[in-house]
Amino acid sequence: MTTTLITGANKGLGFEAARRLVAAGHTVYVGSRDAERGRRAAERLGARFVLLDVTDDASVEAAAKTVETDGGLDVLVNNAGIEARGEGNTVVGAADVTADHMRTVFDTNVFGLVRVTHAFLPLLERSAAPVVVNVSSGLASLTALSDASHPAHFYPGVAYPASKTAVNAVTVQYAKAFPGMRINAVEPGYTATDLNGNTGTQTVEEGAEIIVRMAQVAPDGPTGGYFDAEGPLAW
Ligand SMILES: NC(=O)c1ccc[n+]([C@@H]2O[C@H](COP(=O)([O-])OP(=O)(O)OC[C@H]3O[C@@H](n4cnc5c(N)ncnc54)[C@H](OP(=O)(O)O)[C@@H]3O)[C@@H](O)[C@H]2O)c1
Repeated sequence: MTTTLITGANKGLGFEAARRLVAAGHTVYVGSRDAERGRRAAERLGARFVLLDVTDDASVEAAAKTVETDGGLDVLVNNAGIEARGEGNTVVGAADVTADHMRTVFDTNVFGLVRVTHAFLPLLERSAAPVVVNVSSGLASLTALSDASHPAHFYPGVAYPASKTAVNAVTVQYAKAFPGMRINAVEPGYTATDLNGNTGTQTVEEGAEIIVRMAQVAPDGPTGGYFDAEGPLAW
């Protein structure tokens, strides 16, 4: 059994993945940037709570200290993410996207993921079977975005897909640098959560499937890959 930290696990896909991993017998930390929401979620799940805002150095360092003192970490699930819609809950397209908007999205989805990974690497290196799961998106795929017959082609936003493409690149580079770890990017599929105003067509149970599977990947399993529940995806 492993000790797993899931960032942004107070709701949505992270919460559901935490629920499944607790049910499978793992020790799970619910990372949440809000103490009240995080504590409540952890209590409901029978999980541990750790305060963790992925955009804040001090918060991430304090979280790493807490988890280290409590016994260490085997599995890191970088799940916290934002889409950052514009006025009227609309996706910010190419005509309206600004550098500030890009920075906001990258701050959480990319720099946050790197900040957390960097802080927890020393703990993961001490694990017998370290695993990192980076929650990416189908919109990260340049193959899908540029294929007029793929549903992803019709998503007009700029910052969110670009941030997840960056997550995929970061995943590949970490995986090569740490061959003893299993480090993969996953695409949950279009899932009804607050991120998309609950417009997603899948349930969180369906969406969390690949996150849960990759969090429990065997030491001889894949690394440096990009997967959904059906298998490998085109970059
Ligand atoms: N839903 C989909 O269709 C879909 C598809 C592909 C990929 N994804 C990815 O799946 C992941 C989970 O998203 P979701 O759909 O479950 O959305 P969600 O319900 O909105 O959950 C997002 C989680 O991230 C947390 N978060 C946001 N900024 C944070 C920060 N600075 N520090 C710590 N936590 C932060 C949120 O916390 P608060 O409650 O405090 O806001 C929340 O717990 C994201 O990476 C998303 O990009 C989702």
